[in-house]
Amino acid sequence: MERYPVIPPADLAARLPAGFRLGAATASYQIEGAVDEGGRGPSIWDTFSHTPGKIMGGDTGDVACDHYHRWEGDVALVADLGLDAYRLSVAWPRIVPTGSGAVNQEGLDFYRRVLSGLRERDVDTVVTLYHWDLPQPLEDAGGWPVRETAERFAEYAGVLARELGDLVGTWTTLNEPWVSAFLGYASGVHAPGRTEPAAALAAAHHLNLGHGLAARAIRAELGDDASVMVTLNHHAIRPADPSSAADVDAARRLDAVGNRIFTGPMLRGAYPQDLFEDTAHVTDWSFVRDGDEALAHVPVSALGINYYTPTIVRGLAEGEEPSSSGGHGEGSATPWVGATGVDFVEPEGERTRMGWLVEPSALSGMLRRLRDDFPGLPLIITENGAAYEDEMSTDEDGGRAVHDLDRTSYYSGHVSAVADAIDDGVDVRAYFAWSLLDNFEWAFGYDRRFGVVHVDFETQERTPKDSALWLRDLARAHRDRR
Ligand code: NOJ
Repeated sequence: MERYPVIPPADLAARLPAGFRLGAATASYQIEGAVDEGGRGPSIWDTFSHTPGKIMGGDTGDVACDHYHRWEGDVALVADLGLDAYRLSVAWPRIVPTGSGAVNQEGLDFYRRVLSGLRERDVDTVVTLYHWDLPQPLEDAGGWPVRETAERFAEYAGVLARELGDLVGTWTTLNEPWVSAFLGYASGVHAPGRTEPAAALAAAHHLNLGHGLAARAIRAELGDDASVMVTLNHHAIRPADPSSAADVDAARRLDAVGNRIFTGPMLRGAYPQDLFEDTAHVTDWSFVRDGDEALAHVPVSALGINYYTPTIVRGLAEGEEPSSSGGHGEGSATPWVGATGVDFVEPEGERTRMGWLVEPSALSGMLRRLRDDFPGLPLIITENGAAYEDEMSTDEDGGRAVHDLDRTSYYSGHVSAVADAIDDGVDVRAYFAWSLLDNFEWAFGYDRRFGVVHVDFETQERTPKDSALWLRDLARAHRDRR
């Protein structure tokens, strides 16, 4: 299956600007394991993954890729693949095990070693402060729906900036706050597994506030020049029928509760009015205090975008049942919180193992729209990638390989879509493949492989797949042009 022909790396490299960075990304809970080591406290994902029935196959992140013990080899892997940059996340419960108060030096030492290893090998870093592993005691005290969590987050950000600031290239405060708020507190398919629509909207607000406070805390430590951004799974939404007023309005409603709920306060300093109207039956938003929207608004160095698949919607007629729960998780969450009457359309086409439609042009379209909406704001693709059914082949000499043409074709199509946007004048600075390693794919456990490097979860052996070699060749060809 190769819908998007694999472009020779040298040809594609020629389309990427000189300073463009190519990298790969991971997240702490998905790769580290060692959940009881190094003074780490429990996170909501430990609790959730140990709750029967929540994760496919009963999997947990207890061991994951054992990266905590194997970080040196993994850092070497990033360097051997010739990547310019690596995006990792810090586990909050390794740094502040109870979520507030005492800081755990062992946790700081671990990330100092990893970041130093990357620096020695000349790999740029993007560090995510929050990739979903909230310290459990903070959830016990109310979680993201309460204001104090945002305040604790800012304290943690200040600690990281002070202790690791000399080693970090770019900070990204939150990873996909939409997922934290809506899958965590509305649909409950992610930790902490709550199904409380009003709480989900309060969570979204405190994530916005947390972003602003954390960014300010980082700059208070490191100065206004510190590179700080946020990573959103900005939905590439379009109406199934652009000439249907109902479909266009469905797209607007989903854009409000899926995108502008974050870009409004974070990038403009205000929530959009239509969001308040659409969600009035769920909450009165009284948790928003005067000045909060301004606090959430900090000049960011760039906007990080995680893109996987487009979201195509239609408007439901009064009383009509949705035909699918589809979308990129949206279907499970949005009906609760304002996007009622929105149906997700699943057109024919190539899909990944997640069931997600492969459509690179939706990425270039979204990048162009973001450029129009936020002129002058640099963009970074902080995640893009695909899960496929991988097969390990062993040659006569025992050499192992994964010929993942489908994933390579996905990458080729999407990097080329980024190049299309750049050709149109969009300022895209970097592209990170998700993920460096096969890892713990949240509710799907180890059943979905997103890595460019295969991980044998029995032996922890790492095997670069063909997609990794293609990315390596792309990075190499691009570097050779500089
Ligand atoms: C986005 C998330 O940030 C990442 O943790 C996840 O594994 C990928 N999407 C794939 O679903």
